[in-house]
Amino acid sequence: MAKAKDVYLCSECGYETVKWLGKCPSCGSWNSFSLVTPIASPAGRGSGRAAPVSPISGIAAEEDIRYYTGLSELDRVLGGGLVKGSLVLLGGDPGIGKSTLLLQICQSLGESLKVLYVSGEESSKQLKLRAERLEVDSERLFVLCCGDMDTVLATIRAERPAVVVIDSIQTMVLSSAGSSAGSVTQVRECANALLAVAKENDISIILVGHVTKEGNLAGPRILEHMVDAVFQFEGEQHHSYRLLRAVKNRYGATNEIAVFEMQDKGLKQVANPSAMLLSERPEGVSGSCVVCVLEGSRPILAEVQALITRSGFASPRRMATGFDYNRMSLLLAVLEKRAGYTFANLDAYVNVVGGLRLDEPASDLPIALALVSGLRDKPIPAGMLAIGEIGLGGEIRSVIRIEDRIREAERLGFTRCLVPQSSLTGLELKRFKIKVVGVRDIVEALRSIADNS
Ligand code: TYD
Ligand code: MG
Repeated sequence: MAKAKDVYLCSECGYETVKWLGKCPSCGSWNSFSLVTPIASPAGRGSGRAAPVSPISGIAAEEDIRYYTGLSELDRVLGGGLVKGSLVLLGGDPGIGKSTLLLQICQSLGESLKVLYVSGEESSKQLKLRAERLEVDSERLFVLCCGDMDTVLATIRAERPAVVVIDSIQTMVLSSAGSSAGSVTQVRECANALLAVAKENDISIILVGHVTKEGNLAGPRILEHMVDAVFQFEGEQHHSYRLLRAVKNRYGATNEIAVFEMQDKGLKQVANPSAMLLSERPEGVSGSCVVCVLEGSRPILAEVQALITRSGFASPRRMATGFDYNRMSLLLAVLEKRAGYTFANLDAYVNVVGGLRLDEPASDLPIALALVSGLRDKPIPAGMLAIGEIGLGGEIRSVIRIEDRIREAERLGFTRCLVPQSSLTGLELKRFKIKVVGVRDIVEALRSIADNS
């Protein structure tokens, strides 16, 4: 067998190299390499034996067994419940509510299943206090406050719970991995050991992972490759709303989101995020427009805001929160070239309300309308929303699933909806109560809002 070679590992991203480097070529961090000795040497060439292979048509397809968490929104993001035997990673900033969410679902999971909650961060007293606050008192929920991975693994094998929560993976230490808790090697080896236990015994394991300053899952991307699903818990500490996002999911769609609100008795799911995102919308204020984007399988309405002010700088400021900065510059350029609105000497700020990130091209048109509304200081008519991608020629391009979006707008009481003309083919407008207006280019769209204001 080949002798295991020492390798240097980047503590930020897990990049491996055979010689020490000052700067990581993968993530760019400085002085992050440390020497590690691999635990097991990889098998040499030709040491394996051929295994029997089976034709795909001969494999019996079995439906995954799923456990329901008691939070239907979470189940939806999971792809229809927590899959038996899966390894799931839940990432998020400290204090965002990961432990709260997991302890809460332990209550309903514990109604029919044996659940083990392993905490390396809190003592059992602290956990009990939190559980009391969340009204978690399931008979089948067991707690282990321990950071020693060997003990945890032995306990899982002995107790055979159906679901295990590891809070958090960074606090676990495997003695054979030989470095400090939270290091890349530790995190990787601990996750590897848990993966083996999960698959061997068909146990669902949920790992909690902290996020680094840069927003990566600490300890780090290697974990994302190992687990079956990665969920990101986001939100601002000073706001009570939290978004749960699927980043990777072997058992369901990604881009699904669920919205929760942190209350004094834990997290409450928000079944109607559109209404929540629009609840504080100011009336009759310029620079505000409503957008309808698809987040996974469902359309969500949100408010975008633009503020245009005279610039005090030689080169005007541009700032975008929740929207791509370069895309905003592109829209400003299109507005200048194709519609004649110039933003030179003006600072432009774009903000998407509620911490939502708009990655979908369908949000181009509402952002452009908000920018012009901000520039002219004329509010966009109340009850109106816009959907559409903008091309460099100023044309409005079609978007997918227009009917679902119009229905969501209708449901929330909007009266007029600007959509790409090309999306209207095959759509029976008579079936909608809302007035649907097709527009071909940005000039037509701007005229259409001016007609009505
Ligand atoms: P926590 O779940 O400990 O965060 P994480 O595990 O992601 O680090 O969440 C802690 C925060 O949530 C803390 O600031 C207090 C707040 N909180 C509530 O507002 N209501 C509650 O019922 C609970 C349990 C926590
Ligand atoms: Mg916690």
